Amino acid sequence: MYNVAVFGCGYVGLVTAACLAHMRNTVRAYDTDVTKIRALQHGEVHFYEPGLSQLVCAQQIEGRLSFTDSAARALENADAAFIAVGTPTGPTGEADLTYVRQAAREIASCASRPLIVVNKSTVPVETADLVERIVNANSAGGVRFPVASNPEFLREGSAIGDFLHPDRVVIGSDDRRAITMLREMYAPLGAPIIVVDVHTAEMIKYAANAFLATKISFINEIANLCRAVQADIDGVVAGIGADARIGRTYLEPGLGFGGSCLPKDVAALAHVARKHAIEPTMLDATLGVNRRQIVAAMHLIEEAAGELYDARIGVAGLAFKGGTDDLRESPALVLVEALLTAGCSVAVHDAHALRRAQTVLRERVTYCSSVYDACSGAAALVIANDHRSYSQLEWKSVASRLAKPNVIDLRNRLDPAAVARAGLQYAGIGRRRTRRVSEKERTT
Ligand SMILES: NC(=O)c1ccc[n+]([C@@H]2O[C@H](COP(=O)([O-])OP(=O)(O)OC[C@H]3O[C@@H](n4cnc5c(N)ncnc54)[C@H](O)[C@@H]3O)[C@@H](O)[C@H]2O)c1
Repeated sequence: MYNVAVFGCGYVGLVTAACLAHMRNTVRAYDTDVTKIRALQHGEVHFYEPGLSQLVCAQQIEGRLSFTDSAARALENADAAFIAVGTPTGPTGEADLTYVRQAAREIASCASRPLIVVNKSTVPVETADLVERIVNANSAGGVRFPVASNPEFLREGSAIGDFLHPDRVVIGSDDRRAITMLREMYAPLGAPIIVVDVHTAEMIKYAANAFLATKISFINEIANLCRAVQADIDGVVAGIGADARIGRTYLEPGLGFGGSCLPKDVAALAHVARKHAIEPTMLDATLGVNRRQIVAAMHLIEEAAGELYDARIGVAGLAFKGGTDDLRESPALVLVEALLTAGCSVAVHDAHALRRAQTVLRERVTYCSSVYDACSGAAALVIANDHRSYSQLEWKSVASRLAKPNVIDLRNRLDPAAVARAGLQYAGIGRRRTRRVSEKERTT
């Protein structure tokens, strides 16, 4: 069992801190945002992630997890310091490493004894070298800190399960002590541990995200083609996904990928490629198809609802996926902006992100605490993320509120037949159009 400091209490840092404490390490988590730290000290988690509040509180009560606004306090007696700070997109697509540099400087100047620096943030190749240079140049008393890379693969919405039951743990380091410590720390998970050099570990994370994003763009392009040639994407996914060489995961047609990882990581990898004079043809195409998916969605809505100018449209699901309140790079928000630009009045619902959405969309849309309210007087209900409640709606109630009987399923999670039975016209991404069942057919 180790003493661990975690720098950054966001989605990744807080999950890492709580899970490492659950694995019986003693964890002190630090964030530069004092408001977040104060809330966490009172057991309040500042974002929505299923099960996280309960895990954080349980570990605080056990005395294995605490929060501090002092980097020095976080590092007292620490054997390892995990860096889990944000790496947003810079002006030309590159990863902005400002927070990583800052954390490295703080670790060097505050650590009172040698410890291992573990980078969990998603960063371009050679960032561990940069962190090593910074910590060793700024360390008090010439103490040397080995730096390891330990990329994180969790998904928001299932972050705790993903952390505690990973497909693999990647450790990138040339330092024997760092490798041994991280191996021991992760051993309780029973997952395969892949030990590589730091550059390879950094590349693994970017390559994984680029591949997942490419799978999504690929299936979206095929889905759009299915629509054009009257084929059905569900059958195509079943047919190709059953092939063990391909697999079904991430072959889910929809509105495109978003969130704090895939768009920025693909852009950052493309930037790295250009820096090395390699044309990132596939990565550019992946991003291009993703951007175009909003246009495809707008066509679908217009085809169903008719003239969009002055039309009211209900949009359900604003977060980049269901089960989270994260709006970063959410394609649903891009769609709302496109609808507003087309002259629609938009009524929105989200299970977890409605309050956050108000800081972005302000008074330009109507906020609804139920999906049914978002349907009132609308020419279409648009399902824009995969929150599980949307597939269980009372379709007759939806039908009774809509001005025109249209449901546009931009995540292909609804049962088209159930929607049609309520007298609604269903349209999905690359799915065959489902004719609505008329009143007469329903009663005979
Ligand atoms: N969110 C995900 O699903 C996910 C999954 C895997 C990897 N990642 C990667 O993990 C990293 C963190 O992502 P996130 O979503 O948790 O970001 P986030 O924005 O939710 O959290 C980052 C936190 O770091 C804090 N911070 C900034 N500078 C700091 C410093 N010097 N010391 C201490 N705290 C500092 C911020 O205040 C913030 O609370 C990114 O590189 C991201 O790409 C994210």
